[in-house]
Amino acid sequence: MPREPCERKFDCVAGGPEFGSRRNSTLNPAASDNREKLVLGIETSCDETAAAVVARSDDGSGRLLSSVVRAQWEDHRAFGGVVPEIAARAHAECLDDIIRMALKEAGVRLDEVDGIAAAAGPGLIGGLIVGVISAKAIALATGKPLIAVNHLEAHALTVGLTEGLSPPYLMLLVSGGHTQILLVRGVADYARISTTIDDALGEAFDKTAKLLGLPQPGGPSVENAALAGNPSRFQLPRPMKGRAEPHFSFAGLKTAVRQRAREVAALNDADISDLCAGFQQAVLESVVDRCARAIAIAREETAIKLTHFVAAGGVAANAALRQGLSDLAADEGMTFHAPPLALCGDNAAMIAWAGAERHAMGLVDSLDAPVRPRWPLDADAPKVRGAGVKA
Ligand code: KG4
Ligand code: ZN
Repeated sequence: MPREPCERKFDCVAGGPEFGSRRNSTLNPAASDNREKLVLGIETSCDETAAAVVARSDDGSGRLLSSVVRAQWEDHRAFGGVVPEIAARAHAECLDDIIRMALKEAGVRLDEVDGIAAAAGPGLIGGLIVGVISAKAIALATGKPLIAVNHLEAHALTVGLTEGLSPPYLMLLVSGGHTQILLVRGVADYARISTTIDDALGEAFDKTAKLLGLPQPGGPSVENAALAGNPSRFQLPRPMKGRAEPHFSFAGLKTAVRQRAREVAALNDADISDLCAGFQQAVLESVVDRCARAIAIAREETAIKLTHFVAAGGVAANAALRQGLSDLAADEGMTFHAPPLALCGDNAAMIAWAGAERHAMGLVDSLDAPVRPRWPLDADAPKVRGAGVKA
């Protein structure tokens, strides 16, 4: 019997006044030029199938009208990580229902939308194709412009939707696939200052969770277990701390956790908590040190006055990291900003918002726009040994 794919649960349905940089605006699709522009966003680059609708006013403020996210972890659990083909199939099964839900939640019809934005990279090619082809089909059927969005740019601009913060700012982007510090000069204008020379930070959390037998996604599992742990019981390295170049490295830290775990052999809950707390503390010290170095470099290299420090991406949901970065920003005379937890991990609100920002600048795409599994935000950044696709 064919299954009803999208009777599966949706992990996050957010909308309306909860997030938005201007709370009391009214949706006014009927008025003329200065009406809010509505953008439908689609996200399928990894293991979340998501759709959302945002409204953007001409003054640059925005409102989130709906955000529907279906995480696929249950589909991948048996494999201990994301299986690209399973991810693509799950996106194909669910995406149309999720788009329908997002439009319904927003109270918006497709013909009222001003643009269709989809994540076109970087990410897993099968999933990207599902999202981009769907967006192209909707764009073709409605005659509305397509906006092919860089997923990293979407993370980078989310604080514009949630706090009304506009560039320039310095940003730590920490996700499952990327760990970078970027100078965000403007929409479509980025300079990469730091990157990881091996694992991304989210990947390090996920691998650490896996080796300790904790469920995926690893970040929240490690963070939870760390709450009850002693961060100084195990000796762990602080990778790259004190180095002149501002880059990151996490592979050695993960290996050190594995070695400490082997030394204890059969791990009880207290051992796991102590290892997680030690890992998280080492991450925190390393990341804060790297960010401080990047701030110093950015201040030397740019005439732009940097007063805002932003964290974004799935790992930016980590409370200890948020606190550490907020303290660093205060020490540096900067204000700290990060999206609300529901918009740190992958979602389509950020895609819709990046689409709305690009649409406002006339940056729309033709229907032959490619999907780009690798798509650096700063294509001119110098190569860093070991960084590979994580650059
Ligand atoms: O941005 P995201 O949802 O997807 C990518 O673009 O990769 O980030 C997912 C990553 C995963 O590695 C997940 O373990 C990590 O973010 N993550 C966290 C936390 N929540 C999610 N890492 C540390 N602490 C968290 N609370
Ligand atoms: Zn992401």
